[in-house]
Amino acid sequence: MEKSLVLIKPDGIKRKLVGEIIKRYEYRGLMIENIKMIKPTTNMLKQHYIEHIDKPFFAELVDYMSSDFVVAIVLSGEHAIELVRKINGSTNYMQAELGSIRGDFANSITRNLVHGCDSPESFKREYDIWFG
Ligand code: PPS
Repeated sequence: MEKSLVLIKPDGIKRKLVGEIIKRYEYRGLMIENIKMIKPTTNMLKQHYIEHIDKPFFAELVDYMSSDFVVAIVLSGEHAIELVRKINGSTNYMQAELGSIRGDFANSITRNLVHGCDSPESFKREYDIWFG
């Protein structure tokens, strides 16, 4: 069993896609272990996106993610991390496979509905930020 950390971003909440998104994880067999709505602080987001700190989109990303509530979720299941990323689809909505969350609903690389951690190490780091 593995755990993955997912964020449903503000656009997912505004567009009333929370139920649709969670359904997709559950239908693939993932179990909700913890879930909460939270309006993140800039500091939380700077830690969360620390690996992108030097990228040109960093400030816009932090501003956007701190603009409203997000849903933070811990999911568990076999290969949960890889499975979540597959269900989410590619970061760039233009390359996201149809049938994935981003492939079906996203229309922006910043407002791309969901985040999924990319390794067990990121899970631990992100868990501490969102649920610690
Ligand atoms: S990359 O391009 O390899 O750094 O992309 P990735 O590691 O998948 O995650 C980048 C996160 O930053 C958000 N974001 C952008 N990425 C690329 N280009 C632009 N312009 C951009 N703007 C925002 C992107 O949605 C990823 O967020 P998360 O929450 O990790 O999915």
